Amino acid sequence: MTSVGATDTRFALAENQAWELAEEFGTPLYVLDESHLRSRARTWKAAWPHGDLSFASKANSTLAVLRIMASEGLSIDVASEGELRAALRAGVPAHQCRLHGNNKTWEEVSFAAAVGVGKAIVDNFQELELWQEANASLPLLLRLAPGVDPKTNAKISTGQADTKFGFPIADGQAMEALRLAIESGLNIVGFHCHVGSQLLDPGAQVQGGVQLAWFARAALNELGFVAEVINVGGGLGVRYTESDDPLPIPEYCKRLYAALSETLSDSLSPELAQEPGRSLVAESGVTLYRVGAVKKPALGDRYVVVDGGLSDNPRPALYGSRYEVRPIGVTGPGVPSRVSGKHCETDLLFTGLTLPEDLGPGHLLQVLCTGAYNSSMASQYNRYPRPATVLIRESGRADLVQARDDWESMFARERLPEDL
Ligand SMILES: Cc1ncc(COP(=O)(O)O)c(C=O)c1O
Repeated sequence: MTSVGATDTRFALAENQAWELAEEFGTPLYVLDESHLRSRARTWKAAWPHGDLSFASKANSTLAVLRIMASEGLSIDVASEGELRAALRAGVPAHQCRLHGNNKTWEEVSFAAAVGVGKAIVDNFQELELWQEANASLPLLLRLAPGVDPKTNAKISTGQADTKFGFPIADGQAMEALRLAIESGLNIVGFHCHVGSQLLDPGAQVQGGVQLAWFARAALNELGFVAEVINVGGGLGVRYTESDDPLPIPEYCKRLYAALSETLSDSLSPELAQEPGRSLVAESGVTLYRVGAVKKPALGDRYVVVDGGLSDNPRPALYGSRYEVRPIGVTGPGVPSRVSGKHCETDLLFTGLTLPEDLGPGHLLQVLCTGAYNSSMASQYNRYPRPATVLIRESGRADLVQARDDWESMFARERLPEDL
């Protein structure tokens, strides 16, 4: 494992390792480092002894990652039946899974109840009815909308007043949901919120958590309900580029815990839970691309075109996300450059870069911090095979943990009617 700088905790490949992996497994290639993943999980576990710590598996639901997180003692937050099935396939016991989702279907609810998930987080009134119909006795948390604007990218802001997630606290819907749920005999154990993602300090989560704590106190006074769990979601950011400076995990947790425990009254001492995704896995992964065409347009910076793009990393297009790009094996004076992919859109991946003038066809680029929301968001757009994922084991061996799509699997879903 190589990392740069005192506060830079990102995994990066050494140059010879990058060449070897590209040679053996091809490009584009996602590479994850087992030691780094385990060390992030251990740092989180040590920093948060106050209750359940879940890995939000939407960040990376590769089975090997799920197994590593579960083996480090984390529960697994799943947002769909597919993610739940992934966790089960990875050998995670159902009781170690927490089911999310803002529009759960009857199939999802009944499957989760049948396999015995440990907890589920209820998003809306219709879902309360589904759990009742399923006659489920599993512990349920109500997802609440605390009305907190996390001031992050709009597409990953979820705690503000205008949100599709959860029961609003402000207009009384949350208290009404709790009353209904108690009356109908559901096993409600507490409250949940998740205010947003890629947050570099705990301010928004603190506000969200404090709202939950106040709500728990109100529920005790109004309904005699004793909250056993308060879950403040995920959201801690990572260092995509040098300009991102997230609070270290222990400090972040310390501040969050101090605010939560201060707000809870003496009569309530719920378990305090969190469910980070990105912060557990993003910095443990890199993507390797191979350079193809390099061209200077009539106007603007040079384009360096790589053999991937929108389909293996949609985040730049979705959120304007920025990444650090390191050329492998080529140095020399730099020129202003942009890295684009090979899709039929402008498909800009990484902009505002200075890359060596001599960078050309066949060279490799290593992109840091791609362990979260890359492979899990990948598509087959333009019929490009999704990349393979390789896990560098603690022994140093490189194991293929997710194969590149092949042409058989690419077309497995197609049906051509005989008379067409
Ligand atoms: C309910 C919930 N919990 C946890 C997370 C994980 O967030 P992050 O990856 O920012 O930690 C998300 C992300 O969307 C989420 O929706």
